[in-house]
Amino acid sequence: MEAAMRSFFLHLAQNRTLSNLAKRYGLRYGAQRFVAGETIDSAIETVRKMNQSGMAVTLDHLGEFVEDERDARASADFCLRTLEAIHNSGVNASLSVKMTQLGLDIREDLCKAHMVEILDYAARHDIWVNIDMEDFSHCQITLDLFREFAASYDKVQTVIQAYLYRSEKDVEELAQMGANIRIVKGAYKEPPTVAYPEKSDVDANYKRLLDIHLPSPGLTSIATHDEQMIDHAKQVIQQHGLSEGQYEFQMLYGIRTDLQEKLVREGYPVRIYVPYGDDWYGYFMRRLAERPANVGFVLRGILH
Ligand code: FDA
Repeated sequence: MEAAMRSFFLHLAQNRTLSNLAKRYGLRYGAQRFVAGETIDSAIETVRKMNQSGMAVTLDHLGEFVEDERDARASADFCLRTLEAIHNSGVNASLSVKMTQLGLDIREDLCKAHMVEILDYAARHDIWVNIDMEDFSHCQITLDLFREFAASYDKVQTVIQAYLYRSEKDVEELAQMGANIRIVKGAYKEPPTVAYPEKSDVDANYKRLLDIHLPSPGLTSIATHDEQMIDHAKQVIQQHGLSEGQYEFQMLYGIRTDLQEKLVREGYPVRIYVPYGDDWYGYFMRRLAERPANVGFVLRGILH
């Protein structure tokens, strides 16, 4: 039943018509639990609160799978404005971007030009940029472009998904080049030809990827709400005597805030992924897919 619900929501996440409708009608159906408002001001306000609680933030101006050149330009401008707001307000935040929002599906050179603008601005103001990992069809190109960017910029990171069979080899190579990576389980609908269908295999692979990357020179962001993964990471951190700057824990805004606060109390570096903007639909559907019990929020949102 849970697997069927997961598949249902991941299928809905890809529906462009519903996504466009959602933009028109604004943040609703309980999505506010996971999205920090539609404007940059509301996002910065949330960042301040998280910073006051001892947590850093990575801000994501929501958007993905853009098919029109003007929309890709508008997304790049939003990313630049987000960086400007981070710089002007002095908050402790980085930027997370999805390359399909910057035109990757239109033309690679267009996306690359937008990324270079973003990375140049961020480097001038000493702000980290993370390139989120999207569905499998974008994995190779994302890693290829990341490698190019990492050759010119220090504070750039990408994401590796533990559900992919290929990830162990990717992490071995990335660890060797001292790359900065965020390790996640993976949030898209992928076939068993490319991704482990069983959660137990994904979890085992997640731990393997931590074992490989944590001791390497690059930054490892341990992005999960799973206490077993977190406990495993803590053991590796202790075993290798790793210091702050080599790793951080990351969680999503609105999920397991108790665990976020516990890690801060224990003295670990914690960064929260805070999405904002009107393109909230696909992100929200993926959060419902991860935990179908969240549907209760939707029902309450509709009834109120
Ligand atoms: P798992 O799904 O096993 O959940 C462990 C526990 O966490 C659950 O038992 C529950 O308590 C809680 N939980 C998890 N999801 C929840 C939800 N939606 N609502 C309520 N509780 C929930 N993916 C990707 O493909 N590309 C990317 O770039 C990113 N980026 C990213 C950044 C950050 C900071 C995080 C934390 C996650 C991502 N992800 C991602 C998403 C990731 O792939 C994965 O889907 C989610 O983190 C859920 O997996 P967990 O590791 O939390 O484990």
